[in-house]
Amino acid sequence: MSPFLVTRTLPEDATEAALRADVLHGLTRTPKTLPPKWFYDAHGSELFDQITELDEYYPTRAEREILVARAGEIAAVTGARTLVELGSGSSEKTRYLLDALSELETYVPVDVSESALRLAGEALIAERPRLGVHALIADFTGGLALPGTPGPRLVAFLGGTIGNLLPAERATFLSSVRSLLSPGDALLLGTDLVKAESVLVPAYDDAAGVTAAFNKNVLTVVNRELGADFEPDAFEHVALWDSDNEWIEMRLRSLAEQTVKIPALDLAVDFAVGEELRTEVSAKFRKEGVGEELSAAGLEPVRWWTDRAGRFALSLSVAH
Ligand SMILES: C[S@@+](CC[C@H](N)C(=O)[O-])C[C@H]1O[C@@H](n2cnc3c(N)ncnc32)[C@H](O)[C@@H]1O
Repeated sequence: MSPFLVTRTLPEDATEAALRADVLHGLTRTPKTLPPKWFYDAHGSELFDQITELDEYYPTRAEREILVARAGEIAAVTGARTLVELGSGSSEKTRYLLDALSELETYVPVDVSESALRLAGEALIAERPRLGVHALIADFTGGLALPGTPGPRLVAFLGGTIGNLLPAERATFLSSVRSLLSPGDALLLGTDLVKAESVLVPAYDDAAGVTAAFNKNVLTVVNRELGADFEPDAFEHVALWDSDNEWIEMRLRSLAEQTVKIPALDLAVDFAVGEELRTEVSAKFRKEGVGEELSAAGLEPVRWWTDRAGRFALSLSVAH
C-alpha cells in the first residue's frame, strides 16, 4: 500500500494563536465578525458533510454533476500527475477526478481540519493502494508550501469555498495560488453562481436546522479553545442575501442583551439585543467576473462549464 503522509505546516500552537487573534480582532470591532474557517473542528466538518446532503443545498449536487460530465476532459487538458486540493474536506467529489486522471501519482489534500483530512485520507488509501496521499494541515490563505511532487500539477478548489473570501482577499489568494504553479499547471475552480434569492437563502437556512447548528458551532469552538461562556441558544441563525455585493451572509443574532466572557483573552464582549455577529460571507459569481479575477492573477481561463440548470460553474485555467 502507498504511504499516507500527514504534514502539519501549521505548528500545534499556531491554530490557537490564530484563533485568539481572530476572536480578539473580530469581537472588538463593529460590526462583530468571525472568519468561517473556525467552523471546521471535527463536529463542524461533520455538520458540513450533512449540509451537502440537504435538499436545499444544491451546490454539492450541481458541482458533482459537472465533475461527472467533465472529469475526462479535465484529465485530457491537464495530464496532471499531482492533484492538490485546497479545502478538501471529505474529498467526496474529488473521486471523479481521481478516477479520471490516469497519469496521477500523488494527491495532496490541504485543509485546516485535521479530522477531515485523516478520515478522507485513510479511506482513499484503502480504496486506491497505488495512489500516494500527502495530506497537509495548513491554512490555504497563509503562504502554502507544497511538497515537491511531479508536475504537471492540477490545483482544485471546489465547493465554492473561494466565495468565503472577500474580494480583496480573493485577489491575494489567487495570486498566491498562481505563484505555486509552473507553466503547464492548472487551476480548477468551483464557483457558485448568482441566482434567485428564493433559491439562495434556503441553501443557507435549511428547514431541518443543520446550517443553524453549523453556524452556532463556531461559538462552541471558541468556548472550548478559549474558555468562553457563549450560550449558543442565546443566538439565532440568520442567512440573508446582500444584492449589492452579490453574497450570502450568515450571522448570529443575539436574542438578549448579554455579556460573554473570554478568559483566555481577558475579554468581556457585550451584545445588544438583536446585535449580529457575521460568521460567513459566501459570494456568488458571474462568468465575466470569474474570468477577470483569474486573468488579474495571471491565469488564463480555458474552460467554463455549468450544471444543466446553470446554478454552479467549474472553470479551468492554466499558467504560462
Ligand atoms: C465549504 S467546505 C468545502 C469542502 C469540500 N471541498 C466540498 O467541496 O464539499 C470548506 C472546506 O475548507 C476548509 N477550510 C476553510 N477555510 C480554510 C483555510 N483558511 N485553510 C484551509 N482549509 C480551510 C474547511 O475545513 C472545509 O473542509
